[in-house]
Amino acid sequence: MSAVLLSVRDLSVTYGERRVSFIPEITVEAGECVAIVGESGSGKTSALLALLGLQPGAHVTGSVNMFDVVDVLDDPARISGLLGRKVALVSQSPISALNPTMRIGKFAEAVLRKHGRTKAQAREQVVEALAAVALNESVLRRYPHQISGGQAQRFAIALALSLGVELIVADEPTSALDVTVQADIVTLLESLRRDRGLGMLIVSHDIALVSGFADHVIVMKDGEVVESGTVHEVIGSPTTDYARALIDAVPHLDRSVL
Ligand SMILES: Nc1ncnc2c1ncn2[C@@H]1O[C@H](COP(=O)(O)OP(=O)(O)O)[C@@H](O)[C@H]1O
Ligand SMILES: [Mg+2]
Repeated sequence: MSAVLLSVRDLSVTYGERRVSFIPEITVEAGECVAIVGESGSGKTSALLALLGLQPGAHVTGSVNMFDVVDVLDDPARISGLLGRKVALVSQSPISALNPTMRIGKFAEAVLRKHGRTKAQAREQVVEALAAVALNESVLRRYPHQISGGQAQRFAIALALSLGVELIVADEPTSALDVTVQADIVTLLESLRRDRGLGMLIVSHDIALVSGFADHVIVMKDGEVVESGTVHEVIGSPTTDYARALIDAVPHLDRSVL
């Protein structure tokens, strides 16, 4: 049995009086990809940020266990001890996650040094991770505006790898990218999961995109989970009209391959 990296129960996110997201259960094991899909506004990002303790304006309840740390939301020190060490958030807008005034290499060095690496270790780990994501080392001399969105997303993933994280949480990691680049990033994430056993929790509005590599799919509508099951169950034989509509909206989603 694989190690459980993330275990969430009854996660509820409320802004003021309005509950925008409720997810009864999420479990991510090593080497497993869980996808949360649903139309815009269904509460996906709110849930993702909440379980990482990154939604300060929200009232969050529920239990989140990550690695060997229980109830990480009860104490900010618990989650801050995990972020960048065991778990990394990959965002929708990779370029804005960088510092516009810093060359990429300096930025990477600063992040790794903040996490206790020496300058030499930082350099070595970044170079190694760039190779793993097939990025040329020349990006280290560039500024964020001088690289493409796809390169920036590869770099964000490389930074997570150089930190040695075991769980990647990604919010629409390909939405801001061109279609061909989207496929490259999905292929990269898939290879990291397969070859390194990383766990992944991916949020997307694009069911076609996640159907190719998620093991488990959670479908959300208006803040509630309407379906949750293996990719075969949910894409192959959806039980709700909503999930069926999401799937049918994708012209080339070939259910027969599942
Ligand atoms: N910081 C916030 N304050 C108040 N309402 C918010 C905030 N963030 C999101 N919402 C609302 O919560 C709902 C769910 O949003 P979100 O989690 O971003 O959905 P999704 O990621 O599925 O598009 C939306 O109605 C949105 O307007
Ligand atoms: Mg969102």
